[in-house]
Amino acid sequence: MALLFGPPGVGKGTQADIITQKYSFIKCSTGDMLRDEIAKKTESGAKVEQYLKQGVLVPDDHIFTIIEDFLKKNKNRDLLFDGFPRNYNQATVFGNLLHALDLKLQVAIEMHLSKDTIVMRLAHRRYCTKCGRIYNLKTNPPVHNDICDKCHLPLEQRTDDNEEVIRKRLKVYETETRPLVDYYRSKGIYHQVDAQGTQTEVLERIARIIDDHIAEK
Ligand code: AP5
Ligand code: MG
Repeated sequence: MALLFGPPGVGKGTQADIITQKYSFIKCSTGDMLRDEIAKKTESGAKVEQYLKQGVLVPDDHIFTIIEDFLKKNKNRDLLFDGFPRNYNQATVFGNLLHALDLKLQVAIEMHLSKDTIVMRLAHRRYCTKCGRIYNLKTNPPVHNDICDKCHLPLEQRTDDNEEVIRKRLKVYETETRPLVDYYRSKGIYHQVDAQGTQTEVLERIARIIDDHIAEK
């Protein structure tokens, strides 16, 4: 079991998608799950939307409900978490949950990238609302302008990918999530990966860690 964390736009979702294919992991992206919830237009989805729009964290209790459900459904699979946990409380409760289910987190990988590159990547990000595939108009464009290669639907920009909210998300990362570096370092499972370079180059760096620390592939 592995997790990827790092600031917005660092490439967590992109790498999580490639890794889940390469290693037959099951991906758990709390961001994607929350966006799915919003798309269902339920009362709870409308509440969740307000947090994402502002670039702040959704309350922990809501996240724990999602995670508990996911863990129970996928107990015997190799799991990869993208963007969870996001703060110290989530990390410690997650640790207790895993312990209770006799599961073990083997690696916590922090992806690192300069702020300028992050802002550039987010400004040009587009995604497909149907399949969730992530594109970049500069670095990973679709074959046809603004159309998903797979679903042939128009690509969209995330509502939290505007300058003001990006700034807020970066701040939230620094104050709430970055402390997890020390938390996972103290557990002896922390790794940092340089997220600069092509998707393949970044994948190779992450794959080396997974190959070294997760026996079953
Ligand atoms: P979430 O969806 O997790 O967003 P995030 O952490 O801000 O990260 P992003 O998804 O924006 O970036 P990414 O690192 O996945 O980058 P990507 O691969 O897309 O969370 C959104 C919100 O949900 C949060 O703000 C919060 O409100 C809430 N939330 C989620 N989880 C929560 C939790 N556990 N607790 C509480 N609240 C929670 O790549 C970015 C761009 O770069 C793309 O265009 C891509 O094509 C491009 N790219 C990727 N790799 C490369 C490369 N190597 N070279 C060039 N371009 C690249
Ligand atoms: Mg993502």
